[in-house]
Amino acid sequence: MTQEIAVLSTKPEMAVESPAVRKVFVKTYGCQMNVYDSDRMTDALAKDGYVSTDVIEDADLVLLNTCHIREKAAEKVYSALGRLRDLKKKKASEGREMMIGVAGCVAQAEGDEILRRAPAVDLVIGPQTYHRLPEALKRVQRGERVLETDYAVEDKFEHLPAPDKAKTRARGVTAFLTVQEGCDKFCTFCVVPYTRGSEVSRPVAQIVAEAQKLVDAGVREITLLGQNVNAWHGAGPDDEKWGLGELLHRLTKIEGLARLRYTTSHPRDMDDSLIAAHRDLKQLMPYLHLPIQSGSNRILKAMNRRHTTAEYIALIARIKAARPDLALSGDFIVGFPGETDEDFEDTLRLVETVGYAQAFSFKYSTRPGTPGADLEDQVPEDVKAKRLERLQALLLSQQNAFAQACIGKTIDLLLEKPGRMPGQLIGRSPWLQSVNVDAKSSQIGDIVSVRITGAGPNSLFAEVVS
Ligand code: 5AD
Ligand code: SF4
Repeated sequence: MTQEIAVLSTKPEMAVESPAVRKVFVKTYGCQMNVYDSDRMTDALAKDGYVSTDVIEDADLVLLNTCHIREKAAEKVYSALGRLRDLKKKKASEGREMMIGVAGCVAQAEGDEILRRAPAVDLVIGPQTYHRLPEALKRVQRGERVLETDYAVEDKFEHLPAPDKAKTRARGVTAFLTVQEGCDKFCTFCVVPYTRGSEVSRPVAQIVAEAQKLVDAGVREITLLGQNVNAWHGAGPDDEKWGLGELLHRLTKIEGLARLRYTTSHPRDMDDSLIAAHRDLKQLMPYLHLPIQSGSNRILKAMNRRHTTAEYIALIARIKAARPDLALSGDFIVGFPGETDEDFEDTLRLVETVGYAQAFSFKYSTRPGTPGADLEDQVPEDVKAKRLERLQALLLSQQNAFAQACIGKTIDLLLEKPGRMPGQLIGRSPWLQSVNVDAKSSQIGDIVSVRITGAGPNSLFAEVVS
């Protein structure tokens, strides 16, 4: 997923008139957490007079917020840096300076290499030090090339400024809120424990304050984010540890906050109180991203997932007993080292058994420094490609079947943004599907009752019933 952040200046006329205003172009690669981080960095820079632009040629600072999860994602960064080097040169020939910064997980994992391979880069900053970005830029302006990837001892969230009301409103009626970062699970394919570090949970008070601010600015739906969000165990008011179920309960007390979601979860961290929250909280949407990665117990063991397919299936049965209309989403990796045809058939069987409303699937990508990279029996690319094609065909058929089954249902729809056609808005169903409906733009932020009338390849169609 990529996102280019739009112009967020609350006073655009000032941006044109004042020569002191500097412009930042942020390109976000990867997961929702990077989208959240890009916004936080933009907010930190706003204090120093930076406004966002979506026109890269106008930027005084270009910031790439990068992803390291698969090789392809990391490669994209180096090719983008090649293009940026040319743009920087062109601008310099016109007497204009352009700084280039690399943030995110590639910055954390390959900071030195970026500085070596890409001389046009002025600044490399890891995810744990974003609050130091303004200071780092000052060092760049003094002529330094900055590498800022040490883990900070201070709490970056304490130092990151919150966006003002207008900016939050401009970002929409749904928002992300990072509650947890890092991972201690060490799945053998995954770089996250190395790029994001060990698990850290933000305290309850900090999260509630941020959620309240979002709601005060008009946000109706918050998605709690974490690499391992259901492992969140933050400090409560008396310093006692809370679990995610308790946090969700607390957040439902915020008046005006209509919907809650959380992502992404590990099956081993779905505790009883979180499952009960799915039963008890009407604000908690009946949709759960619960990756299993493979349907073969042999491969799950090699991946260090520390659970079996039977445990996963039993867990889903418990969650669905608590919330029968819950829809599932997941992640799958095909071609993990040693995966045989039989292992892959097990994955297809598991998908048939569970039934996903949506799922993401990937070819295994060797990540340097992870235990998986040292395993023998790497699966040939063409075998991975064929398996991925079969798996994706099955997952797509399940997604379409789920969408078809929605036709005729009356659901609550949160109206989010203008649709493609005039007079249309796009909203989200409880199960995270995009739904097109005829409605006025003044209704953005409302939750309306709609009847689903049809299903296209990526979205549903509906009419308002009340
Ligand atoms: N290769 C392929 N996919 C991966 N993922 C994580 N690491 C790798 C890798 N090395 C996938 C997993 C994870 C999702 C975010 O990305 O499915 O859940
Ligand atoms: Fe990576 Fe998720 Fe496994 Fe952590 S639990 S190592 S983030 S796949």
